[in-house]
Amino acid sequence: MTVDYKFPKDFWWGSATSATQIEGAANEGGKGKNIWDYWYETEPNRFFENVGPETTSGFYHSYKEDIQLMKDIGHNTFRMSISWSRLIPGGRGEVNPEAVEFYNNVIDELLAQGIEPFVNLFHFDMPLELQNEGGWESREVVEAYKTYATECFRLFGDRVTKWFTFNEPIVPVEGGYLYDFHYPNVVDAKRATQVAYNTMIAHAKGVEAYRTFNFKDGKIGIILNLTPSYPRSQNPADLRASRITDLFFNRSFLDPSVLGEYPEELIEILREHGQLPVTHDGDKELLKANTAELLGVNYYQPRRVKAKEHLPNPYGPFMPDWFFDNYEMPGRKMNKYRGWEIYEKGIYDIMINLKENYGNIESFISENGMGVQDEGRFIQDGEIQDDYRIEFISEHLKWLHKAIEEGCNAKGYHLWAFMDNWSWMNAYKNRYGFFSVDLETQKRTPKKSAHWIKAVSESNGF
Ligand code: BG6
Repeated sequence: MTVDYKFPKDFWWGSATSATQIEGAANEGGKGKNIWDYWYETEPNRFFENVGPETTSGFYHSYKEDIQLMKDIGHNTFRMSISWSRLIPGGRGEVNPEAVEFYNNVIDELLAQGIEPFVNLFHFDMPLELQNEGGWESREVVEAYKTYATECFRLFGDRVTKWFTFNEPIVPVEGGYLYDFHYPNVVDAKRATQVAYNTMIAHAKGVEAYRTFNFKDGKIGIILNLTPSYPRSQNPADLRASRITDLFFNRSFLDPSVLGEYPEELIEILREHGQLPVTHDGDKELLKANTAELLGVNYYQPRRVKAKEHLPNPYGPFMPDWFFDNYEMPGRKMNKYRGWEIYEKGIYDIMINLKENYGNIESFISENGMGVQDEGRFIQDGEIQDDYRIEFISEHLKWLHKAIEEGCNAKGYHLWAFMDNWSWMNAYKNRYGFFSVDLETQKRTPKKSAHWIKAVSESNGF
């Protein structure tokens, strides 16, 4: 293929997944329960078509064949997560030998195929016992996380050199404590703030633990979903709405994890509204000393906002939404199959921001992708003809390429996801994979985009 957009040497081509979403075997191999197993048992109707986490894409049993498929489509990297409740059922205590064997096998198989494992420690899947102790609201749980992370580094750190403390730590905050789409379904901004703060402390403690090992060439970072915030207009009220939205939804995690401190303006807003979290002596220093060395950026859609039209009830419960209204920009491009805006330049704006304000930290696109409902309707000759996904990826890659040409330190691109997988409350509603998965037979079939990405990775561009 003629290559117009050539990427730097050793660019990371791959895809992302998470344990709960692909492993299946939720009740096998000595795994303990996490919040998803529990929530599904108690409220199965909250999940799309009542499909629960035991029905995920079977990677626990088919990892060898799946890794072969990764190889076949040219991946040189692959992101997975470790299931805390599989490795340490109950969240603290004995390590489960079957889990150690499973993750060793996966890591060794990836390396044998020339695919570098990127391993994330937490992707929304809190062990149930620890949630019952207060989950991320509890500092004891933060300590349990540090022990779990240390165990992972000790067991797998000799071979894994790219580690991530969290994937999208804001999502359990929004889902579990603000907007009711994750267990424990609390709606309480003050508790949400504590959860957000404690996960940043856990992140810093994870980084600190990793550094005690002194692994040669190893790096540890974090994966954040960044949603650039665009104002409706340049008038001061819209600009303020956009700045505050950025503080709440991006900088609340980006600043402490990459710069080691919270933005003053965010602290001020929380103080003014009585929302500051409980902190411990030494937290400030801990955050400052243990920042991420590598940043995964998950980018799906921007956030467009305008000044609040109706002022909130000052006696009602505090919510971030007090400061902005969403703005549906006329003419914006939509993924009509998922209902999310597509704005490819967002990827460039994020990268430029990292370059200018975050020390040009080494980064990569750790998730980007296009979910499609009822994707089966696009089957022709036995394969899904996902030209829309190819266009989606290539348009984003063009902006990533431009950012790199302008000096941004972006090292790779991972699609969400390697294969269709179980997506929390949405279960199998929106399909994202390079491979489709037949849930009855577990058969994987490449989509057109799988053949396309193979050619792209082989030419290191397109
Ligand atoms: C990402 C998450 O934000 O979105 C994934 O990291 C998730 O875990 C993905 O599966 C897609 O979400 P949805 O709701 O479109 O299926």
